[in-house]
Amino acid sequence: MTNIFREKYGPWAVIAGASKGLGLEFTKQLAGLGLNVVMVAESLPDLEKARKNINSDVECKILEADLLSPDAATRIGQFTQTLEVGLLVFNATHRDLGPFLKNSVEDHLGVVGVNCAQTVTLCHMFAKRMAQPIRTKKGGIILMGSLSGFTGTPYVSTYAASKAFNISLGEGIGEELAESGIDVLVCAPGAVATPNYLESIPAGVTSSAPLLQPEYVVKSALKNLGKKRLVVPGWKNKLIALLLTRLLPRRLSVKIMGSATKKLYD
Ligand SMILES: NC(=O)c1ccc[n+]([C@@H]2O[C@H](COP(=O)([O-])OP(=O)(O)OC[C@H]3O[C@@H](n4cnc5c(N)ncnc54)[C@H](OP(=O)(O)O)[C@@H]3O)[C@@H](O)[C@H]2O)c1
Repeated sequence: MTNIFREKYGPWAVIAGASKGLGLEFTKQLAGLGLNVVMVAESLPDLEKARKNINSDVECKILEADLLSPDAATRIGQFTQTLEVGLLVFNATHRDLGPFLKNSVEDHLGVVGVNCAQTVTLCHMFAKRMAQPIRTKKGGIILMGSLSGFTGTPYVSTYAASKAFNISLGEGIGEELAESGIDVLVCAPGAVATPNYLESIPAGVTSSAPLLQPEYVVKSALKNLGKKRLVVPGWKNKLIALLLTRLLPRRLSVKIMGSATKKLYD
């Protein structure tokens, strides 16, 4: 897989939200497949720490950028100007855990700003570059959805709506960009054992969600890039997605999601 993958999606990958959790895992696995990587995140110390995990056979650049800031996309564009980017992984997320009215409107708009607006901006910028005639093998884009994006999800309502946006955006541009040889995949996992997810669970509360490891989720995404447009890693999560989207009345799906998230975030 290594050579074929590197030829199609290399030589450089940009990972937005690369300093921890799934983003760091994407960076590690992409470097393992021989791609040079640009790691983007908000905190420079975290990026410097994260870089120590990356295979030294490839080049690794780090860029401190707050994806909520209006100049973030311009800075990312300038930083990567001379690099041939064949893959964008938009993994960063802003979260607004808790009751809708307890979070500030700024927090909700932060979710929209990072998870929706910045996703569109970076997809547009890098897809345009990948589609240039100079690139013969074109490239790929991976977006992160979530099981919560398949239905309204109380107590993480804006976050879940942003994940629905990512699923829909990825499927839409996936169809369009296929004509230009660009593969788009949305990875929509359930709960994943990333440090921030685990920290978000209050002490003494047990989540009923099946928990996947970041290595498994990222492997599943990379294996399916170019084959599928949407992947739900893990058979239990596939079953949950089927129930939520096809088998249960929509209102019941929302109630079930809400009873799980209420325990965690109310
Ligand atoms: N973990 C789960 O259970 C789960 C389930 C379903 C879907 N997902 C999706 O998978 C993705 C990764 O999840 P995760 O749990 O690994 O997330 P995470 O641990 O919270 O990591 C998010 C990454 O995004 C960066 N980031 C956040 N806000 C940023 C900003 N404003 N500017 C620049 N970078 C920013 C963080 O860096 P800084 O700390 O420097 O800001 C970090 O590197 C997300 O899109 C999430 O929605 C996760």
